[in-house]
This record gives sequence, C-alpha cells and structure tokens, in this order.
Amino acid sequence: MTLKSPLPSLVVAVVVFVLSSSLLFDVSSADDIRLGSTLFASNLNESWSSPNRTFSLSFVQDTPTSFVAAITYSGGFVRVWEAGPVDSGGSLRFLSTGTLRLVNGSGAVVFDSNSENLNVSSAALDDSGNLSLRRGGNVTVWSSFDNPTDTIVPSQDFAYGKVLQSGSYSFTLLRSGNLTLRWNNSIVYWNEGLNSSIDSNLTSPVLRLQPTGILSISDPTLSSAAIIAYSSDYAEGSDILRFLKLERDGNLKIFSSSRGSGTATTRWSAVTDQCQVFGYCGNMGICSYNESSSDPFCGCPSQNFELVDENDSRKGCKRKVEIQDCPGSGTMLELDHTKFLTFEPELTSQVFFVGISACRLNCLVTDSCVASTSLSDGTGLCYLKTPDFVSGYQSPALPSTSYVKVCGPVLPNPTSMQLMENNRRWKLRVWIIIVVVLSTLLVLVALEGGLWYWCCRHSPKFGSLSAQYALLEYASVSPETNRKKFSLWAYEEFEKGNIEGILDKRLAGQDVDMEQVMRAIQVSFWCIQEQPSHRPMMGKVVQMLEGIMEIERAPAPKALTEGSVGGTSINISSNVSALSTFAASAPAPSSSSSNQAGVSPLVSGRNIDRASSSLLRSSDQN
Ligand SMILES: *[C@@H]1O[C@H](CO)[C@@H](O)[C@H](O)[C@H]1NC(C)=O
Ligand SMILES: *[C@@H]1O[C@H](CO)[C@@H](O)[C@H](O)[C@H]1NC(C)=O
Ligand SMILES: *[C@@H]1O[C@H](CO)[C@@H](O)[C@H](O)[C@H]1NC(C)=O
Ligand SMILES: *[C@@H]1O[C@H](CO)[C@@H](O)[C@H](O)[C@H]1NC(C)=O
Ligand SMILES: *[C@@H]1O[C@H](CO)[C@@H](O)[C@H](O)[C@H]1NC(C)=O
Ligand SMILES: *[C@@H]1O[C@H](CO)[C@@H](O)[C@H](O)[C@H]1NC(C)=O
Ligand SMILES: *[C@@H]1O[C@H](CO)[C@@H](O)[C@H](O)[C@H]1NC(C)=O
Repeated sequence: MTLKSPLPSLVVAVVVFVLSSSLLFDVSSADDIRLGSTLFASNLNESWSSPNRTFSLSFVQDTPTSFVAAITYSGGFVRVWEAGPVDSGGSLRFLSTGTLRLVNGSGAVVFDSNSENLNVSSAALDDSGNLSLRRGGNVTVWSSFDNPTDTIVPSQDFAYGKVLQSGSYSFTLLRSGNLTLRWNNSIVYWNEGLNSSIDSNLTSPVLRLQPTGILSISDPTLSSAAIIAYSSDYAEGSDILRFLKLERDGNLKIFSSSRGSGTATTRWSAVTDQCQVFGYCGNMGICSYNESSSDPFCGCPSQNFELVDENDSRKGCKRKVEIQDCPGSGTMLELDHTKFLTFEPELTSQVFFVGISACRLNCLVTDSCVASTSLSDGTGLCYLKTPDFVSGYQSPALPSTSYVKVCGPVLPNPTSMQLMENNRRWKLRVWIIIVVVLSTLLVLVALEGGLWYWCCRHSPKFGSLSAQYALLEYASVSPETNRKKFSLWAYEEFEKGNIEGILDKRLAGQDVDMEQVMRAIQVSFWCIQEQPSHRPMMGKVVQMLEGIMEIERAPAPKALTEGSVGGTSINISSNVSALSTFAASAPAPSSSSSNQAGVSPLVSGRNIDRASSSLLRSSDQN
C-alpha cells in the first residue's frame, strides 16, 4: 500500500533529529527552560540562553548590593528586558505551577508573570530576545516582548496600549499613531504625529524597529508602514543589534551595538534638545549648556537655592529659606534667557496674556505662584508656575525672561563673565606673588654678591679670579676665536693639561696659585653648561671656589656648528645666562667688549679697576 513507504523515512528523520539535537546542544536542549528551574542572584555566571547564545537571561549586578534579572544581548552589555532589583539573596524561579517569579532575599515577590495555573509547560528564550512561557501546542501565555520594560528590539511589536517606563518617564503609542513621552504619567513633553500627508484613522497601530534601523508604524488602514525615523547608520554594517530605548534621561533613542563590542552608540534621539525633557534637572533645577561640554548642565536658579543632592544635580534644587518662612519679604529673582517648561496638561491652566512686568508682579502677589515666564517671543504669553514641579531651561538663544519667588535678598549666580573675571584676578594675584618672590630673591642675591665683593675685593686671589670667570666666556664670543668656540678650545687645552696655554701670558711670570686657577677654570666649565639643569647653584659655586667642595669633571661644552647663525645665537644666550648667574654672586667687571649688550644690568652697572685687564689669555693675543 502507499501508506507503508513514508514510515521508514519518518523514523530516519526522527533519529537524525534526535542525534543532531543531542550533538548540537546540551542533553536538555538549551532553548527549553524546564519547570522548576531557578537562577540565583548570588551566581551571576548561571544563565538561560537562546539557542545560538545571542541573548541570555541571568542576574546582572547594578550596584554592589542590588541585582536585576535581565535578558541581555551578547556579552551582557545591552539589557533588553529586566525585572528587579533584588538583593544578593534574590532568585528567579520558573515555578512548577507555571509562573516566572522574582523574589528577594526575604521571599518578597518583586516580579511575577502571573501565569500560574494556566497550564504553562515550558519556557524558552529565542534568538530575537523574546522570553516566552508556553503551554502545550506552543501557545504563548506570557512573553517579555509583550511586557517590555524600557527597550524594544527588532521583531518586537510595540502596540497601542503598551508602555516603556524609565524612572518617572514613560513612552506610549496613542491610537492616533502619535508617539508620546510623559513625565510622571501626566506632562506630555514630546508628542509626535504621523506625517500630516498620511490621512488615516488608525485602528490598531504597531510600532516596529526594523533590524536595519528604521522606526515605523504599521496599521491595517495603512497601505505601507509610515516611517517615523531612520537611525543615522540605517542599513549599514552587519551583525549589529539596534534597539529603541527610553533612557533614564527621559529621551527616547535608537542605539546600535555591534555584537561583542560592549558599546552602544546613540543613532537617533526623539527630543533633540535634552534640556527640553521635562524635569531633566529636577524640581527648580535649571538646564543649560556651557562651552566646556555638549552635555546639559543642571544648576540652581540662584544662590538662594541649593542642590537637593550634592552628588546628583539632576535631583533638583531647594530654597535655602522657604517662602512661607519670610512673610512679606518675598521678592522675584530675575533670570534672563530662561523659561520654565510648560506642556500639556499644565499649559491650559498656566498661560496668561500679559506683559513682562505684569508677569512678574502677578506671580509675586499670587500665593500659589512660585515662578513665572514671560515668553517674550512675540506671542505675548506669560506662564505662572505653581509649586508642583518647576523645570527650567536657560539658553542664550531664548528670548524669554523668567522670575522666581525667593526670600530676599536676591543672590544671583555668578555669571560666566564674573567667573572669568574672578579667574583673571586670581591669575593676577599669582603673578604678583611670583614677582614679589622673584624680586626678593634678586635683592637677596645682590646683597650677598655685594657683601662677597666688599669682603674679598682686597684679596688678590679672589679679585683676579672674579675677573677670570667673567672673562672666560667674554672671550669666547669674540670674533677672533679662529671660528672655534673659545670655551671648547679652552676645555680641550685644559683636558690636555695645558693650563698655561689657557692663561693670560701676562700671568706667566707672576705668583699665581695654580690650584685656585684650576678650580676657577673647572667651575667656569660647569657654569657654561648648555643645559641649565647642569649648571650649579650659586651656593655650590661658592663652595667649589672656596675649595670646600670637590669639583667633578665638567662635561665638555657643546661643540657648535662653525659659522651657523642658529648656533651663534644659542651660544650667546648660554653665555649670557652663565654670566648673569655668575654676576649675581660676584659682580663682574664691565669690559669694553661690545659683547656686553644683553648682560644683566647688575653686571654692567659696576665698575671695577681690574676690569680691563684680561687675566686669561684671549685669542687676540694668539
Ligand atoms: C564565574 O566565572 C568567572 C570566570 O568567568 C569565575 O572566575 C568565577 O569563579 C565564576 N563564579 C562562580 C560563582 O561560578
Ligand atoms: C524584600 O522586599 C520587602 C518588600 O519590599 C522588603 O521589606 C524587604 O526588606 C526586602 N528584603 C531584602 C533582603 O531586601
Ligand atoms: C506625580 O503625579 C502624582 C499624581 O499622579 C502626584 O501625586 C505626584 O506629586 C507627582 N509627582 C511629582 C514629583 O510632582
Ligand atoms: C499628534 O501629534 C501632532 C504633532 O505631530 C499634534 O499636532 C497632534 O495634536 C497630536 N495628536 C494627538 C491626538 O495627540
Ligand atoms: C510627508 O510625506 C511627504 C510624502 O509622503 C513628504 O514629501 C514630506 O516631506 C513628509 N513630511 C514630513 C514632515 O516628513
Ligand atoms: C556625596 O558623596 C560623598 C562621597 O561620595 C558622601 O560623603 C556624601 O555623603 C554624599 N552626599 C550626599 C548628600 O549623598
Ligand atoms: C560647565 O559645566 C561643567 C560641568 O559640565 C560645570 O562643572 C561648570 O561649572 C560649568 N560652568 C559654568 C560656567 O556654568
């Protein structure tokens, strides 16, 4: 009969399937979570994964003491669904009654899929990130896609009636197809409709994010999906997860995350100006941008306020003195280029047609008014804000002026100009200190030098030596050095032991303490070092000259390119610094040499008898 032949092939197929599945996956196939399974917050390694491990459900640590059960995308960085938080004693249990339950360490239920006694027989996380609880015949009883938290991923339908929640912010899709962002389930600070050219009465709109990054709404009444937004990288790249997320900052964004990258990049934001997100800076907080950063900055209206939480400026501001504590002395603080955000449903009750002075005064005399904004944008509108929640926005581009009721006196924030001014003054003060310290040092050094000279001028040794030191380098820049740097030549001669050769011939016959001369020459080699850090301190120089300190062998003076202009200028400047350093301690003789130009006035201002007598051999006598 014809029935017989299919049977053996069916058996073969089943055998092949069983074999392959047991080869590919663990014995209990990875895509089935069995009744009675449990994950513990104390073991972050344990997870329930999708068949190809793109997504997994596990505990994720939020803070050192709090954990959430989350479905994460490859690597755990992106959370597409979560429940919690719980403490480290928490656990996620797929109970045998068929419900998925998150309990904390004391057994309190934090989350429940409420699918008890609905004949749920299995659970599975699929490769699109959907966790579903099913009963026989693959009927889904509960799924994470139907119960989103703050994120939707491609292939997840976000239908009319669903909500994304993040702190006090929520995102919904209206039946009209409008997308709305709300604060505290009331203030609608973003409401985006379909392109007005689409003339349709939607019946059951569904928002979808396509894997390529296109956000669109489809509906039975629409011939094709109406596009809401394109992510900036739409249709680009491969193996990228794109997801739509309501962030904690109250903005709805499309992100892209390459598999395994551990990062997600913002590719679209619903509210382009973050400061327009209601309550972003908390109650009485003022949102602004400043030069130093493109991120919004949260501050307080004036110094009559302080941050509620010094560690989190987004928590808002509070008055240092409450208005009811200063009856009669309430006054209005004026804030230029500032408005207080007013959206539906506040709009209808808070708006008045009055001019700027009345906008200020009306608020001052109205007990229920804490702040007001004169839009000053040509509309003639004034918003009077009640104490409930006041969200401020300051920008140089805003024409509006706002007023805030405070207990006098008004203590305005320092403006950025004032901050700059303060900064300038501070810098000025630093300069004054530097100048004072330097001139004091200079005077001290000059005094010491004067004393030294006064004490030692009659000692022939020192007197002659002081001239020597100075003249060693004077001579070096004279043009007659046979185009060879004198100091280099002197160094070479010194190294050869030809001390006499360096010395002025006129000294030859005289009684000279050669030890002193040696020391003087060695010290001068140290003083003309190219590297300022190699040059000894004045105190050390004196010790070396007096023979108190051993003099190490100085490195050779830097050989300079012969005749090079650049080299010459370096040469001179190093000479000058060596000279002036020396001159500060021992006033050098003023010489007739034209090379004196540029030498410190301390030097040129002195006149010393022996000055003109060059004790060192200068090359013109060569
Ligand atoms: C989790 O895994 C890490 C390495 O991946 C390992 O060091 C750690 O001991 C594991 N923890 C537990 C509780 O298994
Ligand atoms: C568990 O949650 C309950 C109710 O929220 C709370 O009272 C209890 O302190 C929590 N236990 C732990 C260990 O966090
Ligand atoms: C949020 O709204 C509720 C009423 O829905 C209100 O009682 C509460 O004060 C609001 N929160 C703030 C911070 O205004
Ligand atoms: C939908 O959004 C448009 C702006 O895009 C707005 O004019 C309209 O009033 C909104 N409709 C509803 C029902 O909120
Ligand atoms: C609305 O759609 C039409 C064509 O469908 C397009 O030309 C127009 O630019 C769209 N307007 C907006 C605001 O997207
Ligand atoms: C702010 O943080 C510091 C250090 O982290 C802490 O000492 C201080 O108590 C915190 N302040 C508030 C108001 O939480
Ligand atoms: C600019 O913003 C930074 C933080 O983003 C803040 O620390 C700084 O005080 C702000 N400067 C001014 C002038 O407001």
